[in-house]
Amino acid sequence: MNQFYNKHFLKLLDFSKKDLYKLITISEKLKYNKKNFKEKKLLIGKNVILIFEKNSTRTRCSFEIACFDQGVNITFLNTKDSHIGYKESLKDSAKILSRMYDGLEYRGYYQKNIEILAKYSTIPVWNGLTNEFHPIQILTDLLTIKENIKNKNIDQIKLSYIGDINNNISYSLIEASIIIGFTLYLISPQKLEFKNNFYIKNIINKIKYYNNIHITNNINIGVKNADFIYTDVWLSMDEKNSFILWENKIKLLYNYQVNKSLLEKSENNNVKIMHCLPSLHSYNHYKKLFNKNILSKYNLYNGLEITNDVFESDKSIIFQQAENKIHIIKAIMITSLLKENINIFN
Ligand code: CP
Ligand code: NVA
Repeated sequence: MNQFYNKHFLKLLDFSKKDLYKLITISEKLKYNKKNFKEKKLLIGKNVILIFEKNSTRTRCSFEIACFDQGVNITFLNTKDSHIGYKESLKDSAKILSRMYDGLEYRGYYQKNIEILAKYSTIPVWNGLTNEFHPIQILTDLLTIKENIKNKNIDQIKLSYIGDINNNISYSLIEASIIIGFTLYLISPQKLEFKNNFYIKNIINKIKYYNNIHITNNINIGVKNADFIYTDVWLSMDEKNSFILWENKIKLLYNYQVNKSLLEKSENNNVKIMHCLPSLHSYNHYKKLFNKNILSKYNLYNGLEITNDVFESDKSIIFQQAENKIHIIKAIMITSLLKENINIFN
């Protein structure tokens, strides 16, 4: 039996370094097969449910494409159109859906909700993003990192994550760094405090035992010799999209933007730029979302968390990250839905 069979994918800390490397290797094979028209449909006749409480482009599309490629039938549900978590408890939903489907993806607000779904499901549950974690994203990023390093292993890189270090991307990066051992710098102003929440407290408490993980407000130290610079939007989907919150975040983070001068501080000509997306990098796009005064006050005409020139530059591997999600999701689905060891696992 393969080690991932019927296992949930809820957060990275549930896996070992060997597990994550194995999933990456499988996704590389799946990517190669798809690109070379050699893909075999291993999941014909399986049924999967995709539940999204929050918006999504990449994760939803990647799940759907992975399912189509592998012969899986899908149902898409958003919570507005179903009873899940409102008229019907998560526990009942998990029991019912387990009798109908072979696998369940959930993107929602609280990690504790996906943990409840998993507890009462007899089928594998996959985390498509919660307030606390985005494990599929970060595993995808590790695949992308592997594809972009020549003389290093993943555990030898320095990754500098700058901006809002209090979100699902930074927390899942901390988990990845704990498991894999790569050097992680989280760079943000001191005022940004971590969420007061069970899951977050648990990983923040672990940081002191890992000398490869650093939290700093010193941009120079944080990005010096970085192999990868990573950022994310300054206001996540779980935060109220209000003018006041945006202004507070901008005031706090505008000096922590990924721009040309930050790249120079890395002193690495080969530094690569990452972003999980979506991104507010293009003025013509985000100007309609904001009050003009705030943009002029902080001189934000060339991007918020990342400037447009850097986003579009040849140092950016952002679109590669977006595409790779298909291959990682496929690896997670195949390994958790198929009991037997098949060629692709070797
Ligand atoms: N990065 C990511 O999860 O994108 P979506 O929100 O579009 O799924
Ligand atoms: N931190 C972002 C990630 C989006 C993929 C959010 O939760 O909105």
